[in-house]
Amino acid sequence: MSVATESEKDRVVIFDTTLRDGEQSPGATMTHEEKLEVAEALDEMGVDIIEAGFPIASEGDFHAVHEIAQRTKNAVVCGLSRAAPKDIDRCAEAIRPAKRGRIHTFISTSPVHMKYKLQMEPEQVYEMVVQQVTRARNHTDDVEWSCEDGTRTEHDFLCRCVEAAIKAGATTINIPDTVGYTTPEEYFALFQMVRERVPNSDQARFSVHCHDDLGMAVANSLAGVRGGARQIECTINGIGERAGNAALEEVVMALKVRHDAMPYVTAVDGTKLTRVSKLVSAVTSFPIQYNKAIVGRNAFAHESGIHQDGMLKHTETYEIMTPESVGVKQTSLVMGKHSGRHAFVHKLQELGYELGPNQVEDAFVRFKALADRKKLVYDEDIEALVDEEIATAQDRIKLVSLSIIAGTHGPQRATMKLAIEGRTVIEECEGNGPVDATFNCIKALVPNEATLDLYQVHAVTEGTDAQAEVSVRLSENDKTVTAKGADPDTLVASAKAYLGALNKLMIKRQRTKPEAMVVGP
Ligand code: KIV
Ligand code: ZN
Repeated sequence: MSVATESEKDRVVIFDTTLRDGEQSPGATMTHEEKLEVAEALDEMGVDIIEAGFPIASEGDFHAVHEIAQRTKNAVVCGLSRAAPKDIDRCAEAIRPAKRGRIHTFISTSPVHMKYKLQMEPEQVYEMVVQQVTRARNHTDDVEWSCEDGTRTEHDFLCRCVEAAIKAGATTINIPDTVGYTTPEEYFALFQMVRERVPNSDQARFSVHCHDDLGMAVANSLAGVRGGARQIECTINGIGERAGNAALEEVVMALKVRHDAMPYVTAVDGTKLTRVSKLVSAVTSFPIQYNKAIVGRNAFAHESGIHQDGMLKHTETYEIMTPESVGVKQTSLVMGKHSGRHAFVHKLQELGYELGPNQVEDAFVRFKALADRKKLVYDEDIEALVDEEIATAQDRIKLVSLSIIAGTHGPQRATMKLAIEGRTVIEECEGNGPVDATFNCIKALVPNEATLDLYQVHAVTEGTDAQAEVSVRLSENDKTVTAKGADPDTLVASAKAYLGALNKLMIKRQRTKPEAMVVGP
């Protein structure tokens, strides 16, 4: 069987692993509903394969993969599994409802992984490759096999394993740079070598999967494509283990903008990239670096006089792609306290949101409250507000009210009211500054052992009445979560962010009822 016909030999398949490799990175947990929303957005954007999770890892992962498999209209839905038979069977069960489902099964093949992690001899690993692919192939005819730590695997052994996996029925062979160690030249040569030496290599599609430990994930991925790979595994905003994975928006736009140098095509609609990037940032609470390629807020901003002058004369002087090509709209000031529901709904559509009636209603009420307090309401304000609405929809602990006494004469004092699954509790605390007093109230109302690893404030737009966006990262034992809160009042934004992170921790713990954690009236 030849996988690529002549006409499709330059088509690169985009395999998104935001919901698997991305979600497994510290702090990036998503709720079930958030995963469904991200999967739907990826499908609409034209991603070919959605790796929806690791079904054996938890009940939550299983149900997410299963429901995404039920709902996805176009993309192949894939689940990850180790080499063990029960992993593969669980994965097969999770993807069963998919129109097109894939089992992605992996095992380590590098000397260091085999010796220390697996504690297995190479021959045992080789046997397992054959067994795992054969078992997966009995469930579905779309099977991907990955040799974990492929770039540090001995070439002879790598070629033997790849040949055996293809013979056992793997239709995609992924050679990951698991530890982000390779270089573009090396990765290019690796794919050329494997494709030349493995006799049945024409019977499978080869895939790249690069981590960004040395900042080369995108360059390595593109080099792998030049070496003959036709699938790129990547994540939105490059989230993923440690330094992350190759960023989907970067590989897609690099192939579009530099088609002259890299004549390959993908099916991704570039104009949807910004919206999906914001959605993933909102649900994971991972801020997007300002100067991030393609989707950073400065990616199309021109500050210096010389650049602005050039841009006014001709946009191509300093722009290699248009903002519109990645879905960036000009910041516009069209909403205010006189804007009605109809205009608001229209604005949401323009910004790419598809909300249910209840969410629209809640967002509209919050927009009105914001417009009353803030003279100018920008698109970014509405995005911050709606993203927070999406992220907090299922929160069990919500902020009802907060008042602060601050100023030069300490100690500062906060009074906070929370609703914990509908029950209202109140507390008053002092602190070394108003933020400390606010967080002390939360700790008194929701006792917890979590450590505050990060507290960061930035303004969503400009001016003294701008909304503050606060990011908070908490860790507890081996669990890390991040959450954002936005409000014109920095202290309210801080409280929302802290509570958002606690809500996420609770989902992670999946044990104590919030009432059990509450002290106070
Ligand atoms: O980085 C890696 O090796 C992986 C595999 C499971 C494909 O994520
Ligand atoms: Zn990975």
